[in-house]
Amino acid sequence: MVFDFVDGGAEDEATVRENRRAFADVALRPRVLVDVSARPQGVRVMGQDLALPVVLGPTGLARMVHPAGEAAAAVAAELFGTVSVVSSGSSVSFEDVAAAVRVPQWFQLYPWGDRATIEALIDRARACRYRTMVVTVDVPVVGAREKDLRNGLTVPPRVDPRTAWDVLSHPRWLAGLVRSPKVTFANFAGLLPDARGTSGLAAATQGLLNPGHTWDDLAWMVAQWDGPVLLKGLMTAEDARRAVDVGCAGVAVSNHGGRQADSLPGALDALGEVVAAVGEQVDVLLDGGVRRGTDVVKALALGARACLVGRPWLYALAAGGPRGVERLLEVLRDEVDRTLALIGRPGVDTLDPSAVCVRPGRGW
Ligand code: FNR
Repeated sequence: MVFDFVDGGAEDEATVRENRRAFADVALRPRVLVDVSARPQGVRVMGQDLALPVVLGPTGLARMVHPAGEAAAAVAAELFGTVSVVSSGSSVSFEDVAAAVRVPQWFQLYPWGDRATIEALIDRARACRYRTMVVTVDVPVVGAREKDLRNGLTVPPRVDPRTAWDVLSHPRWLAGLVRSPKVTFANFAGLLPDARGTSGLAAATQGLLNPGHTWDDLAWMVAQWDGPVLLKGLMTAEDARRAVDVGCAGVAVSNHGGRQADSLPGALDALGEVVAAVGEQVDVLLDGGVRRGTDVVKALALGARACLVGRPWLYALAAGGPRGVERLLEVLRDEVDRTLALIGRPGVDTLDPSAVCVRPGRGW
């Protein structure tokens, strides 16, 4: 049930597959006899210097996979000179994540509930000294994650006969289950009673959503925040231009890892039109299907400033605990480093479209 929650996508999971397919349809174009003895990876993103072009993206309910939850992402990111984005749907509260690190992380806002609810979340994030506000706008309703529905996933997770059998047939899971604190939407406790309910995940969040939001509401949210705002979850040039018009300092091209609308192009397929539309004015980030350093290099070559990863850090946390997340960042950093050397690019700032070639006829 927990694996399916992390790994799964919406409906036929076509968008999930497209995210990976899009990377497979872009190849690297190596140059030789370039001095690649130094290969810096530092990037400036949302007015902040990061030591590597990878950000740990916002994912809710991380305690489902390990008791350390979202705090582990913040600690690992700080150690590697980058940041994590703390989700509104985090299972560790904004305050507890902020207390685990010295460097301010970014905070992700789900514009759930009414303006008073949103204001309360923003006030708390401000008090925690979060720096960049990431507003996620691709969840007007919850995508149909059929595996979660089939598994009867609830918040907090409940053990029914089927999951009990699952656990009993995997004795090693038992220890984790016993250690796991109750998994809830920590940031909504007391604010939205539904969030503590025991209905299915989709039903619980459904009660909090506000599908009526428009660009006017986003403009209001931007005005509430004193730092930079990154709009996450758009896939078109038109939306990217509007984001810039309302004052966003960055956009994240994202289809929510294929967990929302099914039948979308891969995120990398949409990167080109967004970079062409707003890349000169604001930072363009990308997520969806980034699994290797080569993927990061491809996205940067095509105009992204940095990539976010979602599932990879949850897999890492599940497999290796907090150290697993550190190991993930180490692996990605090493892969980017080696790839830069092997394709003759002395640093991520030397990447441009001539570093890749695109399979003819690829894309949409
Ligand atoms: C997410 N994602 C997400 N996004 C967001 O803005 N707020 C959130 O609370 C969550 N929660 C969440 C939970 C889980 C379990 C997953 C896997 C994803 C989406 C996430 O930020 C990101 O867009 C995708 O995960 C990127 O795709 P990859 O890296 O998982 O392929």
